[in-house]
Amino acid sequence: MTAAQTPATAAAPLVLGIDFGTSNSAAALIDAQGQLSVVPLDGTRAEMPTAVFFATETHSVLYGAEAMQAYLSGTEGRLLRALKSLLGSALMDEYTAVGDRSMRYFDIVVLFFKELKRRCEAHVGAPLEHAVLGRPVHFVDDNPERDALAQQTLGRAAREAGFTHIAYQFEPIAAALDYEQRITQASRVLVVDIGGGTSDFSLIELDPAHSRRADRSQDVLATTGVHIGGTDFDRLLDLSTVMPLLGYKHLGTGGRPVPNSVFFDLCTWHLIHQAYTRKAMHFARELWTDFADQRLHRRLMAALEGQYGHRLLAEVEKAKIACSISGSDASVEFDFLDPELHPQVSADAMAEAMRGAIEQVVACARECVAKAGLQQVDAVYLTGGSSALRPLVAALRQAMPEATLVEGNRFGGVAAGLAFAGAHGVASA
Ligand SMILES: Nc1ncnc2c1ncn2[C@@H]1O[C@H](COP(=O)(O)OP(=O)(O)OP(=O)(O)O)[C@@H](O)[C@H]1O
Ligand SMILES: [Mg+2]
Repeated sequence: MTAAQTPATAAAPLVLGIDFGTSNSAAALIDAQGQLSVVPLDGTRAEMPTAVFFATETHSVLYGAEAMQAYLSGTEGRLLRALKSLLGSALMDEYTAVGDRSMRYFDIVVLFFKELKRRCEAHVGAPLEHAVLGRPVHFVDDNPERDALAQQTLGRAAREAGFTHIAYQFEPIAAALDYEQRITQASRVLVVDIGGGTSDFSLIELDPAHSRRADRSQDVLATTGVHIGGTDFDRLLDLSTVMPLLGYKHLGTGGRPVPNSVFFDLCTWHLIHQAYTRKAMHFARELWTDFADQRLHRRLMAALEGQYGHRLLAEVEKAKIACSISGSDASVEFDFLDPELHPQVSADAMAEAMRGAIEQVVACARECVAKAGLQQVDAVYLTGGSSALRPLVAALRQAMPEATLVEGNRFGGVAAGLAFAGAHGVASA
């Protein structure tokens, strides 16, 4: 997907590299002096949660960390997360209730892009109209039409937000371009970008001597990707740790398990809102006859009536990260639903809950190496927040014992690489 274009000159316009992520977004550019500048999008932080919050009372719209804070502190309103997961789906053109009005999901993505553009322009002090947008290897697995539609929709949103010149680059290639700035020898590297929504791989011949070439297509030996990321790990952990306390897999009256769709909605970031519709609430209320243990049903209804889905999932995510960093047990805050329960996440239970998903991710990494016609690689470069997930790192190490594992810039690397791609024309229109 790389295409030769003319390299940047001093008079060339600034090109913003935008990593619109499922969980976090980041932006960077190469300034007129040729220096990489990662934009502090959220206060001093480079990355900004990809989150939009519509506050009901004040009619205000909040973005990023502010959106998360408002939601988590109980401000009344509607939180939207994982908007990237909707690209390429029919939902993009549907309207959804936000406070007392309704809006198209697509227009909410446009709002997010406008805010990101505004923050970047405030930082740079100049209008920014050129952008290189990162894209996963597959927005949608096994569906080229929907995948193409997802990229088109992303571009349309950026255009409506005011970007007039738009190019695209694969996220793992961008990560590789960034890593290449720091190596001194040529090497064959498997770039592993495991984010919130997708796991993307690219096998690249990196060579500092080639780094300013406009066309790097010859050096990209293979790319693969699978639609599994941190939000799936959160879902799996939520299903195994917390949802059973609300009745998931509960064998109810008559020995039948309670219907499970409400639990799947509650633990899938971009579907949570569906659990709160009038119809879904009515269905959930009527489920009481299926429950042998009414305490579970009461907890389920408390979670739905209090609209605690995002909060629960955020607490599960927190425990996932804590357990991943420490390797020991972490507790999931649950007091707001039942102060007597203290769900725990152990390293073993976490690895077990995620085993199938981790196997799929590792299989996709192997497929990338095989597609390149190689037996082994020199290094595995890890980027993306979920690349720190302990059981996943262990599985990758086991799958590629000969390679050096390099921990990269987890949150800003893709944006930095996109900025590099923008400045040197390593992107396609
Ligand atoms: N230490 C950690 N261990 C495990 N997971 C982590 C850790 N830190 C962050 N994460 C997870 O990383 C994910 C976010 O990563 P990142 O910001 O790279 O994703 P993204 O770029 O938004 O997603 P994508 O590239 O898939 O669209 C979240 O799911 C978060 O829970
Ligand atoms: Mg990412």
